[in-house]
Amino acid sequence: MTDPVGGVSLLTHDVLCDPYPTYAHLRSTDPVHFNEQLGGWVLTRHDDVSAALRDHGTFSSRRMELLVAQRGGADPSPAVARFLELAAHWMWMIDPPQHTRMRKLMNQGFTPRAVRLLEPMIQGIVDDLVDAAVARGEFDLMADFCFPVPALVICGLYGLPPADARMVTDWCDAIKVFLGASPELGGVQDAAVALQEMIDYLTEIMERRRADPRDDLVSRLVTADDDGDRMDADELVSNLLLLITASFETTIDMLGNGLAGLLTRRDQWELIKRDPALIPGAVEEVIRYDGPVQLTHRLLTGDVELRGKKLREGQLAYLMRGAANRDPERYADPDRLDVTRDASGHVGLGLGVHFCIGAGLSRLEGKIALTELTTRIPDLVLTEPEQLHWRADNLQFRGLSVLRASTS
Ligand code: HEM
Repeated sequence: MTDPVGGVSLLTHDVLCDPYPTYAHLRSTDPVHFNEQLGGWVLTRHDDVSAALRDHGTFSSRRMELLVAQRGGADPSPAVARFLELAAHWMWMIDPPQHTRMRKLMNQGFTPRAVRLLEPMIQGIVDDLVDAAVARGEFDLMADFCFPVPALVICGLYGLPPADARMVTDWCDAIKVFLGASPELGGVQDAAVALQEMIDYLTEIMERRRADPRDDLVSRLVTADDDGDRMDADELVSNLLLLITASFETTIDMLGNGLAGLLTRRDQWELIKRDPALIPGAVEEVIRYDGPVQLTHRLLTGDVELRGKKLREGQLAYLMRGAANRDPERYADPDRLDVTRDASGHVGLGLGVHFCIGAGLSRLEGKIALTELTTRIPDLVLTEPEQLHWRADNLQFRGLSVLRASTS
């Protein structure tokens, strides 16, 4: 748990595979902890993390330049300059009032009606994947279910050929690794190159929808209008790109971490099988218990004193969602996956102005996936339950690389 300089290491392989004991240690001994390796303050208590997420005036989302500086300093290449220019429009990298404006326009793509319209498409995708799994008998839940569900949903949303799903997720990977909270892990160059390729690809789709609008997400965003205010081309392309980046891996990992949790604690799987009315609550509980997004950074805009520590303007704060969601002050027996608990108040989908814009969509995907799997493959089992293959490449995004299973 401790590194050679006496601090707490959050980046070792063991901690990345199972960060929860380290979170518990920090929460009880040093809840506002300065971590040398991460170069910032690590907050682990539910009330501190929630308060910081609500206080966007002090805990700013404008952290991109600092992240770039941490990942190897200013790079004068045109690709990186363009990356920074576009990333400056990302909703999750800006504060009100700019954020309020952008979010209002982007919300037009995510009305409850727009999400409801997606239900038959998601149901069809899940049905086909479950059919294929049943026919095969043995499969990798990650490659054969958790990855293709959101990949095909986003292809459906954007009108992309399903065959392009792998290319698009590879681009997202490069960007995600860069954002992933480890100076050693991320390369801004790779992210910048991926971004440029993705921009060319998305620009073509935007132009097609502008010329020939449909009742779909891209068309709604291309035409989004708030009293005459519209997104310009850079704002639009960068946020279309953000939606893909923000939705793919998170949903894959919600499904993967959730299935791993439910299938290794079989009584919980049996409960949702017997009573499907528990499934929406089970989706919230798996996001609380082992969420895909373990932390979010914020940049301090002023000096703050918190639990006796002096946080300074310009420093980085790591708001540890994974730790907050297991705070015993907030949840009884927090290390137990319990599909019957009231998991509300978890910060796995955010809180405050940056609350996940895709929450409704991911909850729907989770509900359909669990309903279909528990109904069609009630005896689904992991074939190596004692050995979970955590990717362990990233402190921010937590997920599995493989999850082997069989129909009985
Ligand atoms: C279970 C899956 C998901 C999880 C766990 C998740 C988690 C999160 C979290 C924690 C935030 C807050 C970030 C912050 O405070 O800085 C967030 C924001 C966001 N999410 Fe999700 N997300 C998921 C699925 C999706 C999907 C499906 C989409 C898009 C279709 C999406 C798009 C976004 C966007 C654009 C933001 C930024 C919102 C803003 O800054 O106003 N997410 N998400």
